[in-house]
Amino acid sequence: MSATSSIPERPSVLVVDDSNLLRGILREELEAEGFEVHLAETGERGLEMARDLRPDVIVLDVVLPDLDGCDLCRRLKREEATGDIPVLMLSSRNELKDKMAGFDAGADDYLTKPFFTKELLARLRTNLKTRDALVSSRRLGQLYLEMLFGIGSAITSPFKVEDEVEIILRQALVAVKALRGSILLLDQEGGHLEVRGVHGYDGSGPALGARFRISDKLPMLASGDPDAPLAIRVYEDTERPSVFVPMVAKERLIGGIEIDLLGRDRRFSANDQKILYALASQAAIFIENARLERDVRSMFLSIIVSMAGAVDAKDAYTHGHSLRVARVGLLVAQHLGLARERMEPLLLAAILHDVGKIAIPDDILKTPHRLDAGQIEVMKSHPLAGARLLAHIPALADVIPGIRHHHEHWDGTGYPDGLKGEEIPLAGRLILIGDAFDAMTTDRVYRKAMSVTAALAELHAHAGIQFDPALVECVAEEHAQGRIHEEISMSTPSLDELIEHIR
Ligand SMILES: [Fe+2]
Ligand SMILES: [Fe+2]
Repeated sequence: MSATSSIPERPSVLVVDDSNLLRGILREELEAEGFEVHLAETGERGLEMARDLRPDVIVLDVVLPDLDGCDLCRRLKREEATGDIPVLMLSSRNELKDKMAGFDAGADDYLTKPFFTKELLARLRTNLKTRDALVSSRRLGQLYLEMLFGIGSAITSPFKVEDEVEIILRQALVAVKALRGSILLLDQEGGHLEVRGVHGYDGSGPALGARFRISDKLPMLASGDPDAPLAIRVYEDTERPSVFVPMVAKERLIGGIEIDLLGRDRRFSANDQKILYALASQAAIFIENARLERDVRSMFLSIIVSMAGAVDAKDAYTHGHSLRVARVGLLVAQHLGLARERMEPLLLAAILHDVGKIAIPDDILKTPHRLDAGQIEVMKSHPLAGARLLAHIPALADVIPGIRHHHEHWDGTGYPDGLKGEEIPLAGRLILIGDAFDAMTTDRVYRKAMSVTAALAELHAHAGIQFDPALVECVAEEHAQGRIHEEISMSTPSLDELIEHIR
């Protein structure tokens, strides 16, 4: 990634104005200052030229013969091709409400006619610089994410590995028409086989968690002969006839399936042996992959958490903000009885909700002063920027709506899409509440933390306006049941604690 400026040596400017006189003057002045100047006389022509030429900056008159300048600006900002081009609006109206209308339409700057061309030039330059900072900041964020998420797209379901053991065991029993059996996996240290699943015994068989030496089940391994085959062992002569099928992945023993042959009406045939062997090797690959997947997944999640930490640190928020937002979101989601498949995207969306702030220049994010209208617009771009950053990662497709819509308000006055009520994805509504709750209950530079009770009162006061009233009710109930309390607002959960909510 390059830190050099992307402002072109000869920046192009598109002037959309119906006044012949003004267009003439601007062409002369701007060309003299090294701009490449394009002129449009009407709004439609301006839109067309903006799409075709993609100028570096647009000067737009508010009053045009065919289109309203504000509408045109809105259209330019909505389109992918032109959305990033700074727009400076020119108007002869100098009322605050006109300026606000311009900014609402997405204008980056506003100048009242008559103006000094020197001022226009200075403003154009500032806008080019701001845009440049924004674009390179965004590019940096994008690159960073691509690097981190390269691994993410291969990962699907993370949280269950051992559950599958039970299914494998049942398949094995059905395959050889046996009634009882157990499945054992090699422990972390590789020294013992531990019973991880049992089926069909009524209290008489091996207990879950029981441990055996490898040589108890596979005596030939104890001989020390490196070429000893990991073959099926059949114990037919004992009082408890059984077979033990080793599970081997990448030439490593990872466990075994033990089938009890007692009460089985026919001999254990060569065919049975083949079936079991095939099943065991499939199971071995499955378990090995699941373990690998779990490892990669937990690495992926830790990376996400450290990235969220980096965003929190960049922002004025206190450390751990994203994790605490996730906790409140998950508690409420649990209260609602949300299915596990929906909890995981919610967790990730909550942790990543402000990731778009990577794209916000530090001087805006960290300014101790009140933001001006233009800076507020840049700040408000973070949900969309976050959604865009993650858009190309298939594994995160379910996560994006929560990020994009975490600043939508119940009454439709939020952003970026002004969605209303239940149009707002549930994850967005949950994160908004978690975000507000954490903002209120932690210390800020400019004020002390509020108590949980006071924060709850605030949530109630804005229920139905900013927040989903039903969700605010859930927070209140969680509070009444003691799961949301003063200490919880002070402490930051670990990723493992959060994953516990999902299981
Ligand atoms: Fe946010
Ligand atoms: Fe936030």
